Amino acid sequence: MINYDEETKIFHLNTPHTSYCMTVVDDSYIAHLYYGERITRSNLNYLLRLHEYVFPPSERPDEKAGFFDRLPAEYPVEGGGDFREACLGVRNDRGLISPELFFTGWKIHKKKKKLPGLPQTFGENAQTLELSFRDSVSGLVVYLIYTVFEDADVLVRNAVIRNESGNALYLTRALTACLSLPAGKGKTLTFGGAWAREHLPVWREAGYGGTVSESRRGAPGHGGQPFMGFCYDQGGLFGMHMLYSGSYLAKLEQDSFGDYRMVLGIHPDTFSWKLEEGEVFHTPEAVLFYTPDGTAGMTHILHDFYRAHLIRGFGKQRPVLINNWEATYFDFDEERLLSIAREAAELGIDTFVVDDGWFGRGRMEPSGDLGDWIPSKKKMPGGLKAFSLKLRALGIRLGLWFEPEMVSEESELFRAHPDWVLHQEGRIPAKCRDQWILDLANPQVRDYLTDSIAFAIREGAATYIKWDMNRMLSEAGSPFLPPCRQGEIWHRHVLGVYEIQERLLEMFPDLIIENCASGGARFDPGMLYYSPQIWCSDNMDPVDRIRIHEGTAMLYPLSTIGSHVSKSPNDITGRVTSFKTRSITGMFGSFGYELDITRLASAEKHDISRQINLYRRLRPMIFEGDYYCLVPIGENGRYQAYEVLSKERDEGFVVFFQNLVEPNGRGVRLCLKGLANDCDYEIGGRIYSGDALLKAGYIVPYVKQDFYAEIIEFKAVSSKNRF
Ligand code: GLA
Repeated sequence: MINYDEETKIFHLNTPHTSYCMTVVDDSYIAHLYYGERITRSNLNYLLRLHEYVFPPSERPDEKAGFFDRLPAEYPVEGGGDFREACLGVRNDRGLISPELFFTGWKIHKKKKKLPGLPQTFGENAQTLELSFRDSVSGLVVYLIYTVFEDADVLVRNAVIRNESGNALYLTRALTACLSLPAGKGKTLTFGGAWAREHLPVWREAGYGGTVSESRRGAPGHGGQPFMGFCYDQGGLFGMHMLYSGSYLAKLEQDSFGDYRMVLGIHPDTFSWKLEEGEVFHTPEAVLFYTPDGTAGMTHILHDFYRAHLIRGFGKQRPVLINNWEATYFDFDEERLLSIAREAAELGIDTFVVDDGWFGRGRMEPSGDLGDWIPSKKKMPGGLKAFSLKLRALGIRLGLWFEPEMVSEESELFRAHPDWVLHQEGRIPAKCRDQWILDLANPQVRDYLTDSIAFAIREGAATYIKWDMNRMLSEAGSPFLPPCRQGEIWHRHVLGVYEIQERLLEMFPDLIIENCASGGARFDPGMLYYSPQIWCSDNMDPVDRIRIHEGTAMLYPLSTIGSHVSKSPNDITGRVTSFKTRSITGMFGSFGYELDITRLASAEKHDISRQINLYRRLRPMIFEGDYYCLVPIGENGRYQAYEVLSKERDEGFVVFFQNLVEPNGRGVRLCLKGLANDCDYEIGGRIYSGDALLKAGYIVPYVKQDFYAEIIEFKAVSSKNRF
């Protein structure tokens, strides 16, 4: 998978269908040569073209400034002659700002290296290349780590930075990865959006000025995704996706010759890190991929890779749950919860998630108690244990909502520890949703949170927690860190979240953590390492949800998308939709209900049982199969369709959603994907050849109904009765 050719000095990293090649330049630097379809060993050094100087247009290799501005560096540094976006910046006590990394050696390891304190991909049958660099002036030693897996068309990389200067150094930027791509017309793919409108794919013409996607919020945000993709108009799609849940910078820029540089990493605007002599900094990992098959290829590569190599809880049994948030908001007591739970048990729901408001004094609005993770006497008079036993008697397990990173001014926690709140000295920190942020750089805070959450989990024998985060970081001054380390809090906050979740999983290996941040503001690959499912959006209106799922599923397996059926009219949009449509659009993720089922008519209750049975039957395919977006909603605004196909290609289904009915319209012809050509499939009692469904398509009958959804199931049959 990885080899080094002594003669050409080229490193070849091969995956089943791709090659990533780098070369040693002047025995001192590592330059990128090629990424794309697999090329078996060959001397690609002619691709380097370092003699082509754009400015000044001379051929003086000794002119280092021009040299660096042309070098397709694997890990560019700031302050030298390379004027493009850099990955590494450092200061020492004398103000040094221009590191220069000299290549010193390489090693190939037979497996993936472990990354301390950070989310990471894993798997057997991997190889890792470690390139080492040293800068004797700054005293920095840098390792670039690349891992390839035998069964995946991705490359995982990160950087490890060590201080060997004898004195303290300050990292001012430490991005994860840089990728050089040759000139050519194309578009960048990033993600945008807002609360209740998450994960909207954004395509932009690439060109001078570049494309940036970034967050300085301490989490990727509703409109962010630590991702950058680039697709040539005539050719394949390249991308990078980072396993990180904080502020990020993703950028694609074009140089004077039209070549591209793509970088991704922790946002340098909210980052600095003091490294004492001998200390090491690990950047988060990024997953790099190339596919000749555009977004469909990307989706399959990432879905398969994340399921097999990132989501530790993938195999855990997932609940069909009911969450009381949109059923009751803060207005509940134990009897109200139990009345819902009794119905839920009858209908086949297995887990009850008690959302916001069960703790402290039992808040009735978002204005107090965050931090006091003990059950409210008012709402749960017998405590968590008694409540959980009542649920267990109904055959239902308990899930609990927490918002661990936050504290309310009105809380026992704040009264006891006012010094645990992030703030700028001398200023009252701004509130957002009436709450402040805890200083997770402080180990006492992390211990308190781990212990109090663990206590509640134990008391309630909870099998599931929803970990929420309802505001972004601001005025991020840490009372715990010394002045020279204040710039570290943004990253330390993220590390703190990872540490607490890791500790909880060590204590409760079967626990399912569902991450959430006011909907999908922290939906990233980093979180998936701890939490196999993430709440995708507070917006459960099916018309919006199906669009949000479409954007999310471009990168993430359906199993990761927390998805519930809620009420109609919808609380966010006011839109009225049918129960059937809401259940179909809600089903393609990790499924649950979030409405007051005690108020439903008996026919609707009956529907719930049927929906749950259908979901349980389709779940193996939803979780493990291949997902294809057949018609994105943006394509015609009128309807949307996607397909899920088992890996064996012997069964699957199409979800068809009609937005507004077309007057004087007709049925919609859909060409399916991935089926076996030579196999016959049965749909609704009729037999079609796979060939026909792939090429000629299936006709979805015309239906006069707005916001209409249906599931079209198909199954392979023997080749008799071909239609
Ligand atoms: C956030 C979550 C919701 C709900 C509320 C509770 O908005 O996204 O699902 O848990 O918090 O306050």
